[in-house]
Amino acid sequence: MIPAKFPMSEAKQRAAQKAIDYLEDDMIVGVGTGSTVACFIDALAAWKGRIRGAVSSSEQSTAQLKSHGIDVIDLNTAGPLSLYVDGADECDPHKRLIKGGGGALTREKIIAQASQRFVCIIDPAKQVPLLGNFPLPIEVIPMARSLVARAIVGTTGGQPVWREGFVTDNGNAILDVHNLRIVDPVGLERELNQIPGVVCVGLFAQRAADVVIVGGEPVKVL
Ligand code: A5P
Repeated sequence: MIPAKFPMSEAKQRAAQKAIDYLEDDMIVGVGTGSTVACFIDALAAWKGRIRGAVSSSEQSTAQLKSHGIDVIDLNTAGPLSLYVDGADECDPHKRLIKGGGGALTREKIIAQASQRFVCIIDPAKQVPLLGNFPLPIEVIPMARSLVARAIVGTTGGQPVWREGFVTDNGNAILDVHNLRIVDPVGLERELNQIPGVVCVGLFAQRAADVVIVGGEPVKVL
C-alpha cells in the first residue's frame, strides 16, 4: 500500500514542536517569521512563564507573541542570544538557506547573526540539493530598485521581479530573483551584498543554520 502524503501543516507543526526542546529556562529566544514559526509561537505560549521573552523578526510575529502575553524585547536591550528559531524557503545539505518569502529577511538575518545557535524548522518540501529554484528575495532601498535589478541581471543572469505593492517592515522594496542555480552560495551572498542599494540578500550561507529540524514521519534533526 502506498502511504498517504504527509500533510504539510502537520509537518510544520511537528518541526515547530521539536524546536521547543532547545528552550532553556530564563532565556530570551529569537523568533523568526512565517507559517512554521507561527506554529512555534503557539507552542512557545506554554513556556511563557519560563522564558524572559522574545526578540522578534517582524511585526507579524510580534503581534502573535504579544497575543500570547510573551514579552517582546528589543535586540539592543537583549544583547547576544543563545537561540534563534526560524523557518526557510529552501535548505541545502550544508544547512545553507534561502529565506525571505515572507519579506522579513533583513531582521531575520540580523537576529541569526546575533544568535549562538540557529535552529531552522522546515517541512520536507524545503530540502533541495542546490539552492535557487525558489526565487531569491533581496531587500532594496526603493530608489535603487532598478539599479540593483540591472546589476543582478549583469552579475547573475537571473531575472529580478519587483514584489509590487509589498513594503517591508523597514520601509523597503523586495526583488525576487528567478532562474538562479546557486553553486556557490557564500560567494553569491558576498557579491550581491556589494551592490549599492542592497539592504539584505535572502541567502543565509555565510551564517547558515546550525540545526535543521525537518517535520515529517519521523521528525529528522540534521
Ligand atoms: C520569512 O521572511 C521567511 O524567511 C520565512 O522564514 C520563510 O518564508 C518560511 O516560511 P514558511 O514557514 O511559511 O514556509
